[in-house]
Amino acid sequence: MSIAFSVENLYFKYPTSKTDIIKGISFDVQEGEIFGLLGPSGAGKSTTQKILIKLLEDYSGSIKYFGKDLKAIDKSFYEEIGVGFEMPVHFSKMTALENMKFFAGFYKNTANIQELMERVGLWEFKDVKVGEYSKGMKVRLNFVRAILNQPRVLFIDEVTNGLDPKNARTIKDMIAEYRANGGTVFLTTHLMNDVEQLCDRVAFCVNGNLQEISTPRDLKLKYGKREVKIEYRENGVTNNALFPLEKIGSNNDFQNIIKNKEIETIHSGETSLEDIFIIVTGVDIK
Ligand SMILES: Nc1ncnc2c1ncn2[C@@H]1O[C@H](COP(=O)(O)OP(=O)(O)O)[C@@H](O)[C@H]1O
Ligand SMILES: [Mg+2]
Repeated sequence: MSIAFSVENLYFKYPTSKTDIIKGISFDVQEGEIFGLLGPSGAGKSTTQKILIKLLEDYSGSIKYFGKDLKAIDKSFYEEIGVGFEMPVHFSKMTALENMKFFAGFYKNTANIQELMERVGLWEFKDVKVGEYSKGMKVRLNFVRAILNQPRVLFIDEVTNGLDPKNARTIKDMIAEYRANGGTVFLTTHLMNDVEQLCDRVAFCVNGNLQEISTPRDLKLKYGKREVKIEYRENGVTNNALFPLEKIGSNNDFQNIIKNKEIETIHSGETSLEDIFIIVTGVDIK
């Protein structure tokens, strides 16, 4: 498997900013994975995405795209990537379908617009002007636009923000399918659900720095509590018991409860990603 993006010691500041916004970050995005940048508002996630898509070029450090220096890559790059910006960008006086046809016109390869719009539930509203679309409809159309050119790498910024759970699920399913068909995804979000349900690997981003780049599972193993909590019923009341996972099979008290009591719940002490984010960064993401 090759490396889609290799980022080393990346620094960036906007012309108007007093200090660095991105403060020397390094990470790789593997081909075929969904890589998530997770962090609170203002952490530098969107800025990092804009750098990776060559929208902001005045950075220092090294970025390689499939082994080539990103700065040396020409406009053909835009045939290969798909981008969903945080703020949906459309022409409000044109219909949704006119918008999609217009954007499709920039690319050599395009997906079937009708299929994509049907999938996100917008085909029946194809002739409505985007200016009349709700926030959620614009977000869904924005996603269609991002994958319109059947990109090799897909960038999506806060892709489920403003969507109800059902529509968020549809978009996440489409992202997972895109990856299953060989696509690579760079995703930025402040939402734990996006990361838990989608990302193969996640980097915690706070204040222009990255902390912990790992799989959600490994993070849970590393920071989760290795214990089992049991709730059981006895003499008409619910009791709690907590056992270490270590050698639990030979723990007599544990076995006694399992064999003889009416069990109500059993949980291993999984720490949520949200708690882990706070443990690692000291910042509450909410
Ligand atoms: N165009 C800009 N000019 C100056 N500062 C900016 C600009 N865009 C973003 N910033 C600042 O850069 C920091 C990171 O912003 P951003 O990358 O949008 O964070 P995130 O996507 O994690 O919420 C914030 O402090 C923000 O105010
Ligand atoms: Mg952002």
